[in-house]
Amino acid sequence: MGKKRGRKTRPATAAAESEDGRTSTFPQHHAAHTSINSNLGSSRKTRKGKGKGAHAALSPSPTSTTSPRQSSSRMLELPPHIQDWFEDGKRMLMAWTQRKAESTPEQVQRARTKIHELSTSSDTKGIRFTGSALHLVYFETKFVRRGTLLYTLFHTLINDPSCAALRQAVCEPWTQPSQHPLSVISCGGGPGTDASGLVWVCKTLLPQRRHVPAITCHLMDFEKSWKRYEATLNTLFKPQVEVSFVHGDVCTNLQADINRHVGVLVPAADLFIFSYVCHETSGRSVEGGLAFYQDIAKAAKPGSVFIFLDVMRHSAKHFGEIQLAMTSACDSVLAHDTSLPALAQLPTQLLIISKRII
Ligand SMILES: C[S@@+](CC[C@H](N)C(=O)[O-])C[C@H]1O[C@@H](n2cnc3c(N)ncnc32)[C@H](O)[C@@H]1O
Repeated sequence: MGKKRGRKTRPATAAAESEDGRTSTFPQHHAAHTSINSNLGSSRKTRKGKGKGAHAALSPSPTSTTSPRQSSSRMLELPPHIQDWFEDGKRMLMAWTQRKAESTPEQVQRARTKIHELSTSSDTKGIRFTGSALHLVYFETKFVRRGTLLYTLFHTLINDPSCAALRQAVCEPWTQPSQHPLSVISCGGGPGTDASGLVWVCKTLLPQRRHVPAITCHLMDFEKSWKRYEATLNTLFKPQVEVSFVHGDVCTNLQADINRHVGVLVPAADLFIFSYVCHETSGRSVEGGLAFYQDIAKAAKPGSVFIFLDVMRHSAKHFGEIQLAMTSACDSVLAHDTSLPALAQLPTQLLIISKRII
């Protein structure tokens, strides 16, 4: 068995766990070897092989429906043109951020430290994602990683034979021809980092969906300043995916004023993505009785799907709480078994919930 999850057991120094649960020496090591300017250059020379890193040994999740983590994680080896697209997108967003407000090396270093706190002192209370330096570092470190993770998940769900039953249960409607775009809400998705993966989901996995855009994605976030990237993200993502920012709070009930726009979108959404937002907001969410999760379980339409990705192992307990909150709130909501080896190899904690078509 792995260590019991708890603040006291969390490493608080440089050799801490990254958001993906891997041991790393970030930010000190990272700051010493990566300069922002070197990252704004062209993609081809700097592309690295993906998915070959060794990951720390991880214990199985306490809930049977969230995937147990394996000792070595695997990501798809993406074709070069897809890797280049993600790298170029990252650079475009970083360059745009720097053009708007150039960050000093000190601001960048402070931003790195703040993001690092997400895996130590701020793991369940989060940080404010305000300021250009923080945005710059976030795009630099997460744009490629989160987009390729979401794409890898869909690729596995749709193509891996061992996922056939799960695919049937959750993805089948998405793969059918349709006159309407698939409606997605990415909760805590303000930077568009996870939504970037949807572009390649459309391009390579959903060829039958010829509607343009094939996906509309609402980037719901507490941090309003992410809205400034909406136009740049659309330049990158269109015509397959169209994004729009919406202000909201996953720690508050759906009827709260801050969620008034989200509340209107929820009943029409086909897919909800929670990529690396639940664990860092779990302190406030639990205090608020997990009202947001209960409310969306009730308000979402039959057939809708909820995908949760978060920090490996550490988010398993909170995923169990979310699962319980949602399945208790609505009889037709059920959690799927994600302990299939093909999914358990992904470098993330995973929870998939859907609402039955009655
Ligand atoms: C670690 S980032 C994840 C961003 C993106 N989903 C990804 O996977 O890269 C967490 C995001 O959640 C947002 N956030 C924090 N608290 C929130 C809340 N209470 N409600 C909605 N979003 C929140 C932050 O502003 C930030 O954009």
